[in-house]
Amino acid sequence: MELREAILNRRSIRSFKKEEVDVTTIEELLEIARYAPNHKMTQPWRFVLLDRQDQAPLQHLIKSKKALKKGKPVPEQEPLSDDAPSHMLAVIIDVNEKEKVYRDDYGAVSSLIQNFSLLAWEKGIGVVWKTPGFMQDEEMKQLLEVSEHEELVGLLHIGYPAVVPKMKEREPLQSKLRHGLTRDTQ
Ligand SMILES: Cc1cc2nc3c(=O)[nH]c(=O)nc-3n(C[C@H](O)[C@H](O)[C@H](O)COP(=O)(O)O)c2cc1C
Repeated sequence: MELREAILNRRSIRSFKKEEVDVTTIEELLEIARYAPNHKMTQPWRFVLLDRQDQAPLQHLIKSKKALKKGKPVPEQEPLSDDAPSHMLAVIIDVNEKEKVYRDDYGAVSSLIQNFSLLAWEKGIGVVWKTPGFMQDEEMKQLLEVSEHEELVGLLHIGYPAVVPKMKEREPLQSKLRHGLTRDTQ
């Protein structure tokens, strides 16, 4: 698959087939994705890979948080939905106390995630980068063992796509691109 084709056709996948993705395949994709640019080679990332069994308590925590937010009772832990991802990958960043370094590091982790998503797409594997609103809540951090010097950047849902959404057109480039500086016309 050509790079341009992967970039254009990759979609965020939210509904997955039952078939599991090999852990070694996910590791291979991550191995390559780590060659993302990162300023001063901080390599500010680490990962926790969750299979379907590990996803159950996480999904339960997410559903409980959503219910509590809406003032509803906390639900019982339910089995995963039929179209649940094969794996989830928690992507964790080192939080540097210097704002500039933190921003650069966030950029680096984002580049890694896009690398990973494109490499996965090339192999017919779908990914969505999810950022649930309460990602930085204490219970979530405890469950994933995220330290006080770290943050969760997202949960990547990974699996073979059951549904591929239609492409959402982007705004015209001309509305986003300006050529050059305003020059003094005198
Ligand atoms: C930082 C970031 C956070 C996102 N968070 C979510 C999310 O919480 N839930 C979700 O369904 N999609 C999430 N997405 C996926 C976007 O909704 C998706 O990229 C967008 O709709 C464009 O669709 P496409 O990726 O298929 O081109 C996120 C994407 C990014 C880059």
